[in-house]
Amino acid sequence: MARMNLDVNGKVETIDADPDMPLLYALRNELALNNPHFGCGLAQCGACTVHVDGQPVRSCVTPVSAVGNSKIVTLAGLGTPEKPHPIQKAYVEEQVPQCGYCINGWIMTAAELFERNPHPTDGEIKDAFASLVCRCGTHVRILRAIRAAARAMREKAGA
Ligand code: FES
Ligand code: FES
Repeated sequence: MARMNLDVNGKVETIDADPDMPLLYALRNELALNNPHFGCGLAQCGACTVHVDGQPVRSCVTPVSAVGNSKIVTLAGLGTPEKPHPIQKAYVEEQVPQCGYCINGWIMTAAELFERNPHPTDGEIKDAFASLVCRCGTHVRILRAIRAAARAMREKAGA
């Protein structure tokens, strides 16, 4: 066990944990941040995605000690019910989720894509999401929400 500080959603939290423990377990079990989900545990589905210094990271295969002082953002830190991120808003408006298990991965991946590329083409969108899984098959609605969020962000930027 080791004492570690984690900078999560703008707040520094202290945990006592095995340094090899996956970041996902630290977030869920130690800090009750339950948006990142355990899906495959093998970096294959994206359900556990969080941002670490702005990069999408699969927290199921990332040892908590590897994060150091980096800034972690989870879905809960992306937006609020009063002020949702455009992709969160589009997800609601397009009524995307079925069981909801995959939401975290798609939204966290979309948010990073928009940060890096505010005007993604359909091809770039498909590439960015190629390694994400939705077992309920809501892909058509997901794509609609991603396009709607991209459009909203473009309009807001006056592009
Ligand atoms: S649970 Fe981490 S990628 Fe599937
Ligand atoms: S909505 Fe059920 S896995 Fe995607």
